[in-house]
Amino acid sequence: MNKALVKGEKDVMEHKELETLFSESKIKERVAELAKEITHDYEGKKPVFVGVLNGAFAFFSDLVRAAELDAEVDFLRASSYEGTETSGEVSLSLSMKCDVQEKDVIIVEDILDTGNTLKKLHSELMKMNPSSVKTAVLLDKPSRRVNDFKADYVCFEIPDLFVVGYGLDYNEKYRNLPFVAVYKGNE
Ligand code: IMP
Ligand code: MG
Repeated sequence: MNKALVKGEKDVMEHKELETLFSESKIKERVAELAKEITHDYEGKKPVFVGVLNGAFAFFSDLVRAAELDAEVDFLRASSYEGTETSGEVSLSLSMKCDVQEKDVIIVEDILDTGNTLKKLHSELMKMNPSSVKTAVLLDKPSRRVNDFKADYVCFEIPDLFVVGYGLDYNEKYRNLPFVAVYKGNE
């Protein structure tokens, strides 16, 4: 094994079904830019960042720590994927601890794909009488959209590829990788 390889690259070599798309340092750089934009947009406000588990855990944690805001954090759960295919039906668990009434909510999600999850989440949160609801996503696959949903903050747009790592999974695997990779195990 070449000693010059960083940890992430070594992992990819061990997982031959993965091809790095965004390195750990590239993600860090882009998340910092997005956090700066959010910090600027929410200056003087106290937003509630709502992370969508499980996929958003890594992005959420890095984003909220980089945003220089007097913010609250909360989580909810959503699932729709089985393997590399979306089941189309979105199951939500809105057991949030924060009262978002009259608050500025920022939903943080790993990836915007068909748009079913965020569209449904956005409308459910709007029913709780917040002041505003915006969405921040790590990845956006615009070519996959089945509705008109658009995220307010996007780190990276990607083509129609199935990706894993930095929170994203293939059947619950690879979430803990520090980089984003294309999953090629189905080819
Ligand atoms: P949507 O409802 O179709 O927009 O799907 C959103 C959810 O599907 C995301 O929160 C992910 O959990 C999952 N998903 C979509 N694309 C991918 C992918 O490429 N890799 C892993 N999970 C994905
Ligand atoms: Mg998800």
